[in-house]
Amino acid sequence: CGIFGATNGSSVTSSLLAGLEALAYRGYDSSGIAIAAANGLQRRRAEGKIGNLQSTIEQSPVDGNTGIGHTRWATHGRPDERNAHPHMTEQVAVVHNGIIENYQQLRLQLQAQGVAFDSDTDSEVIPRLISQQMAQGLDQAEAIRASLQQLKGSFAIAAIFSDSPDCIYAARMGSPLVIGKAHDAHYLASDSNALASKATLACHLEDGDLAYIRRDQLHIHDHTGALVERPFEVLEESRVNNGKQGYAHYMLKEMHEQPGIIEKLLHHYGDHAAGTSLDHAKLTLQHRQRLGIVACGSSYYAGMVGKYWLESIASLPVDLDIASEFRYRNTPLSSSSAHLFISQSGETADTLAALRYTKQLGITSLSLVNAPASAMARESAGFIETLAGAEIGVASTKAFTAQLMMLALLTLRLAESSAHCDAGTVKYAMDSLRHLPEQMRQMLKQQDAIQAIAGRLRRARNVLYIGRGMAYPLALEGALKLKEISYIHAEAYPAGELKHGPIALVDDELPVIVLAPPGELQEKTLSNLREIASRGAQITLISDQAGVDLAADGIQDAIVMPDCNAMAMPMLYTLPLQLLAYRVALLKGTDIDQPRNLAKSVTVE
Ligand code: G6P
Repeated sequence: CGIFGATNGSSVTSSLLAGLEALAYRGYDSSGIAIAAANGLQRRRAEGKIGNLQSTIEQSPVDGNTGIGHTRWATHGRPDERNAHPHMTEQVAVVHNGIIENYQQLRLQLQAQGVAFDSDTDSEVIPRLISQQMAQGLDQAEAIRASLQQLKGSFAIAAIFSDSPDCIYAARMGSPLVIGKAHDAHYLASDSNALASKATLACHLEDGDLAYIRRDQLHIHDHTGALVERPFEVLEESRVNNGKQGYAHYMLKEMHEQPGIIEKLLHHYGDHAAGTSLDHAKLTLQHRQRLGIVACGSSYYAGMVGKYWLESIASLPVDLDIASEFRYRNTPLSSSSAHLFISQSGETADTLAALRYTKQLGITSLSLVNAPASAMARESAGFIETLAGAEIGVASTKAFTAQLMMLALLTLRLAESSAHCDAGTVKYAMDSLRHLPEQMRQMLKQQDAIQAIAGRLRRARNVLYIGRGMAYPLALEGALKLKEISYIHAEAYPAGELKHGPIALVDDELPVIVLAPPGELQEKTLSNLREIASRGAQITLISDQAGVDLAADGIQDAIVMPDCNAMAMPMLYTLPLQLLAYRVALLKGTDIDQPRNLAKSVTVE
């Protein structure tokens, strides 16, 4: 979910809408604003994307000099208008990011006292509690504090009161909130990216802080109630969204940007690495006994590939965890280890919480992020930037291959000082990475072959992806892409594991995508392919095809890949998987850039 607030002394509605648009990557299933207007608090809300809210406001205009807004990714209650934020009483309107874990208990208590609720959300307890405290004689600030003390969970809130039409109250406990300062206005947002077009300076609230934000004044009190100053930083210019530039979708444009990004990363970190954040990461990691990698979604699959490389080439043992599992696993961590948190957005709540957890334990924690102003970049001991530029398509493409590339470069930098790896291996791998942009460009031209396969997959109800070694995480990423944007159920398995169960699914209606890149596992993968071909599966082979007789091996389609080194393979073999998912989704007519139910960055647990 995303929070935006503005107080500028004149009219805030257009700023609120622009701010919410910039935060839509955090959720887009409903949105709303509340304005402190002359005739009391005014609210407008709409189900669906922010364009719907804009239409609602055009039909029923509202404006004022102070307001708050919210874009929602539903957790409690259907994503309809009734559950959209802000939630309000006569006195106060509140937007909330996070989850109130004890909301049911609080709701029951309030209901027992005669308080009625309008929504099914956990968030509505906040304005109801505040109003109840005010009815007992507390002033606005005291009522907020007293209410927040009753909440369990992690959250960020913004509130406006009908009685103080020029002030926004903001409080944070676990979920980020940033205040932006402009010439004669203040803004508030869940992250600084949304502030960059409005404000020049920004300060981050800390847990327990309560801020009073007026057009020309800002007061922040810490958890003890003491007045504090939080440092302001100059806001970097927002990473520009240059539009689709003639492509039908952001996802298509972002897929085509990948060769250029790999070139940029090679130039920035490969050729002139001295003094870069990659160098810093190498120095931090080179004498560690173990590395923990923690991430969610596609970033987790990038971490899986990284584990293969770091262990086999740099001899660094890696423990890999999904962030939402890691943070509650109570795994023993040693100070001789370090952790690397991978995230495109740098804002994903589970990964951020996992980072904070390792920091608390005194473990060195680095992050690999695409958003340098993000919470993870700020809170880790060092961050490596993937330089992929703003990724707008919800299903990650260019950020994923950029993460892979950075993990490859990190592996090679660590391998340089590893006794187990010779200089020739590192040089050969580095040379092969230099050919990658051109190979990727060639691959992206194979649209016809992919279109034909997509035509056959579009009616599938289930699709199986298989691969071995590093092709296994790529199979997982391919299946995730297909699920995310085409809504076809897809599963990925290590090819060698098929015989232990999933082979029972194989019949002549099951499409199976087989990833068989060159290398020592290729023959074994092809044997697994023959096992399912003999049971009638409809096979698409993605391979350089050495040693394959398509007809004899029962293969229906093939995507022919250039020969490549194991270091370049994951980036190259990701492309046909992305293209295939895109083409299937296009044929099915789904919302490719903003698929249903998803958020680009999930900022709740
Ligand atoms: C969401 C997105 C995925 C992404 C995951 C992790 O689920 O839909 O595409 O991989 O979050 O996001 P992060 O920003 O932490 O990489």
